[in-house]
Amino acid sequence: MGASDKKATEGAVQPPNPWDPLVRISHWAIAAAVLANGFITKPGGIAHVWVGWAVIGVFASRLIWAVVGPQEARFSAFPPSPSAALHHIGNLLRGRAREYPSHNPAAAIMVYTLWACLMLVTATGLLMTDGKSPTAIAEERAAIAAGNWSVLVKSGSEGNDNKGEFSMRVAGEVHELAANLLLILAAVHVGGVLIESRVLGRNLIRPMIVGKRRQS
Ligand code: HEM
Ligand code: HEM
Repeated sequence: MGASDKKATEGAVQPPNPWDPLVRISHWAIAAAVLANGFITKPGGIAHVWVGWAVIGVFASRLIWAVVGPQEARFSAFPPSPSAALHHIGNLLRGRAREYPSHNPAAAIMVYTLWACLMLVTATGLLMTDGKSPTAIAEERAAIAAGNWSVLVKSGSEGNDNKGEFSMRVAGEVHELAANLLLILAAVHVGGVLIESRVLGRNLIRPMIVGKRRQS
C-alpha cells in the first residue's frame, strides 16, 4: 500500500476541490438573487417576484441534486451534527483544521440554516402573492392601474376577510425577518469561508468558481 493510499484509509482527506457545475452555478445564482432581492429590487415588485421564482427553480434543482448528484453534493456527505460543528469551530480557534470530502461540519450547519431561511422566504413570498406567476401579477397590476378593478374579483383577491388579511400580514413579517436573517447569515458564512481558507492555507472560494483543480 502506497503512502497516499494509507492516508486515504486513515480519513486524512486530500483537499477535494469537488464542486461540480450544478453546485457552482446554483451557488452563485442563489447568492446573486438573494443580494438582488435584499438590496436592489423593489420589495414586492415584478422584478422581485421574477428573481424569487428563479431562486425557487434553482434551489429545487440543487435539492434534487443533493439526492441524485455526485457524492460530495449529497445530503449524506454533509450531515448536520451540532457537536461535530462545535468541535470543528474549537479546532479552528486553535488554528487547526482538517479537510473534509464535502462541507466541513460547521459549514454543513450553516448550509442547512441558509437553506431553511431561503425556504421560509420563498414560501412566504408565494403566500403573499397567492402563488401567482410574475406575468399574472404584472397583468393584474396593469389592469388595476387602468382602473379595471374587476380583475381582483376574478382572481379572488378582493374581499379578503380579516383572517386573510391577518395571515398576509404575518407572512409579510416572517418574509422580512427570514430575509434579514438570511442576509446576516450569508455575511457570517463569507466570514467563515475566509477564516477556514486562512487556517487550511488554501483558497476555498476558487473551487466554488472554477470547480475541480486540474490534475497535473
Ligand atoms: C430570494 C429571496 C428573497 C429575498 C431575499 C426577499 C427579500 C424581501 C425583502 C427584504 C422585502 C421587504 C420586506 C419589508 O420590509 O416589509 C420583501 C418584500 C416582498 N417580497 Fe420578497 N424576497 C425574496 C423572495 C420573494 C419571493 C419568492 C416572492 C414571491 C413569489 C417575494 C415577494 C415579496 C412581496 C410581495 C413583498 C412585499 C411585502 C409587502 O408589501 O409588505 N419575495 N422581500
Ligand atoms: C447571499 C449570499 C450567499 C449565500 C446565500 C450563500 C449560500 C451558500 C450555500 C447554500 C452554500 C452550500 C453550497 C451547496 O452545497 O450547494 C455555500 C457554499 C459556499 N459559499 Fe456561499 N453563499 C453566499 C455568498 C458567498 C460569497 C460572497 C462567497 C465568496 C466570497 C461564498 C463562498 C462559498 C464557498 C467557498 C462555499 C463552499 C464552502 C465549503 O467549501 O464548504 N458564498 N454558500
